[in-house]
Amino acid sequence: MTVLVLGGAGYIGSHTVHALVEQGADVVVVDNLETGYREAVHPKARFYEGDIRDRAFVDSVFQKEKIDGVIHFAANSLVGESMTDPLKYYDNNLCGTKVLLSAMVAHGIDKIVFSSTAATYGEAQRMPILETDRTEPTNTYGETKLAMERMFHWTGKAHGLRYVSLRYFNACGALEDGSIGEAHDPETHLIPLILQVPNGQREAISIFGDDYDTKDGTCVRDYIHVTDLAQAHILAMGHLLEGKESGIFNLGNGVGFTVKEVIETARKVTGHPIPAVVSPRRAGDPAKLIASSEKARRVLGWNPQHADLTEIIGSAWNWHKSHPRGYKKE
Ligand code: UFG
Repeated sequence: MTVLVLGGAGYIGSHTVHALVEQGADVVVVDNLETGYREAVHPKARFYEGDIRDRAFVDSVFQKEKIDGVIHFAANSLVGESMTDPLKYYDNNLCGTKVLLSAMVAHGIDKIVFSSTAATYGEAQRMPILETDRTEPTNTYGETKLAMERMFHWTGKAHGLRYVSLRYFNACGALEDGSIGEAHDPETHLIPLILQVPNGQREAISIFGDDYDTKDGTCVRDYIHVTDLAQAHILAMGHLLEGKESGIFNLGNGVGFTVKEVIETARKVTGHPIPAVVSPRRAGDPAKLIASSEKARRVLGWNPQHADLTEIIGSAWNWHKSHPRGYKKE
C-alpha cells in the first residue's frame, strides 16, 4: 500500500508518517516546508517539496507514484492568525484542497483521510461533543476546515470519492524516543509554552483567564496524544481501503483538564516550580471542549493508548528538553 501524506513534515503529519512507515506502509510525503521541517520526515518516506496549490506539481507526484490513498494535513492551523489574515486561510486551506481534489479525480484516486478540528463546532451546545452537534465555527480556521469537509462531501457525491474527516481536540505530546515532536513558530499552544519555562526560555506561563465557568475558573480541554492521533489516521485509511463509507469522527480522550491542572502536572513532570501569571482571556477561546470519541472507537476500532496527562506531558518534555529550538540548528 502506498500512501501519500500531504503536510507530512508538520507536527501531526510527521508522527503519522512515522507510524505508517513503522507499520510497513510505503509512504510518499509532500510538504511546502512553510511550517513543516524536512528533518521531521522519516528517512524511509519519499519526499517531494512543493505546494498543493500548484496543479502541475501535484499532477507530477501522481504521475510518478502509484498512490492508493491520501492523508491530507497540508493547511494553515493557527486560530489567531486566521482572524487577522483570513484570506491566507481561504487560499491555502480551501484553494489548496480544491486543486488537490481536482487532481485526485483526474488521476482516479478516490480515498482521502482529512485533518479536521474541534474548531468546526465553535461554542458547543453540550459536553461531550458529538459529531452530529451544531457546527458554527467562531474563527476562520474552523470555518475553512468545515468548508473542506463539505468539499469532500460534494466531490464524493459527484465523483465517488470517499473520505474520513478526523476532528481532533487538543493534540499534544511527542514520539516516545524524543526524535520528533511539536515545533511551531510562533508557538501558541499551552503545553510547549509551559515547557519553555523549565527550558529557560520563558520566565512564567500566562493563564488566559481564570474567571470561566469551570471548576477552577480556567479553560478545560481534551488533550490527546499525537501518536494516538497518528494511529487513528492509519485506521481511517484501512476503513476506506476496506471499501467502507465516508464519515466524520471526533478524536479525544473524553476527559477534560483545566489550564491550571496542566501546569500543575508539568511542574510534577519537570520538577520545576513553573511560575504562572493570570492574564486576560484570549479572544475566541471556548470555556470547555471535550470530545465524545465513541464513534471512532466503535466504527474505526480506535483505542487511544496514552490518555494519562503525566505521560503526555512527559513525552513532550522529553522532546523539548532535547530540542529546545525544535528542528532549528543554531
Ligand atoms: N492557554 C493559556 N496560556 C497560554 C496558551 C494557552 O492559558 O500561554 C490556554 C488557552 O486559553 C486554552 C488552553 O490553554 O484555554 C489551550 O490552548 P491551546 O492554544 O494549546 O489550544 P486551543 O484549545 O486554543 O486550540 C486547539 C487546537 C486548535 C483548534 C482549537 C479549537 O490547537 O487547532 O483547539 O478551539 F482549533
